[in-house]
Amino acid sequence: MSVPPSAVRPFGAVLQYGGAARTVAAVRLRALAADLPDGLTARLLDPDDSDLLTDFRLRVVAMLEDPDHYRMAGEVGSFVADHLADSGVTAGIFRETALVAYGALGLPMAGDLNRGRDLGLPEAELPLVAHMSSAMVDPRQRGRGLHHRLIDWRIEVAEALGRRHLIATVSARNHHSWSHLARHGLYPKQLIRVGGGLERLLVHRDFATDPVFDHASAELVPVEELTARWDLFERG
Ligand SMILES: CC(C)(COP(=O)(O)OP(=O)(O)OC[C@H]1O[C@@H](n2cnc3c(N)ncnc32)[C@H](O)[C@@H]1OP(=O)(O)O)[C@@H](O)C(=O)NCCC(=O)NCCS
Repeated sequence: MSVPPSAVRPFGAVLQYGGAARTVAAVRLRALAADLPDGLTARLLDPDDSDLLTDFRLRVVAMLEDPDHYRMAGEVGSFVADHLADSGVTAGIFRETALVAYGALGLPMAGDLNRGRDLGLPEAELPLVAHMSSAMVDPRQRGRGLHHRLIDWRIEVAEALGRRHLIATVSARNHHSWSHLARHGLYPKQLIRVGGGLERLLVHRDFATDPVFDHASAELVPVEELTARWDLFERG
């Protein structure tokens, strides 16, 4: 399948950073918090939550049914610190005081790794990139729509912050994750290698364009064969 270029929509939001970005993220989180299943609450995580987030991530990763679904080796920088301060925002969902889910949005600054380069974006558009960096849900809370809610929240924040390009890397074997992202308009555009030599789908949504499904070049590919088909991504 290829997606022909489509008309570019005007995209006028003003870029915001640091505290201003956290304020926007917190305001957008109110809608998510108001609509959670009973017994759950949500708030933005801050640097004081570093240990909480670190422990939660280690616990979820230790319980993965397939270790390739999430490998911290594929992350860049100092993940927790970066997503609790100026380079990102993270929503936490709690059951009483226990963290049961989080969704992290990376807001790369000049000099930070920027997946827009992997996508071949022009330099001028790199400041308009946000990373859908990571989300995890406690196994006991899965299937309640928390991931979908956290994806929606990050889309709203990225758009409100003027970050037109939303990009994520995801294991092709993690069907839940990338099919969820595709349902929210983030489609696989390339196969890339990330940290530790891991092969990952690079998924992307551009808020300024509407993708058009090209029936002429569409091809049905079994999902387990996807990572052997670099040709599909190379031809666009
Ligand atoms: C992948 C992962 C984040 C999914 O989390 P989740 O909270 O179970 O996902 P959701 O509940 O939003 O969606 C799961 C299903 O529940 C269903 N669901 C149930 N109640 C729902 C509701 N109220 N609203 C939306 N969907 C709901 C959805 O239909 C969805 O079905 P689908 O998979 O066919 O889309 C979770 O399995 C996880 O943490 N995995 C380990 C870490 C990981 O892989 N992270 C992703 C990589 S960044």
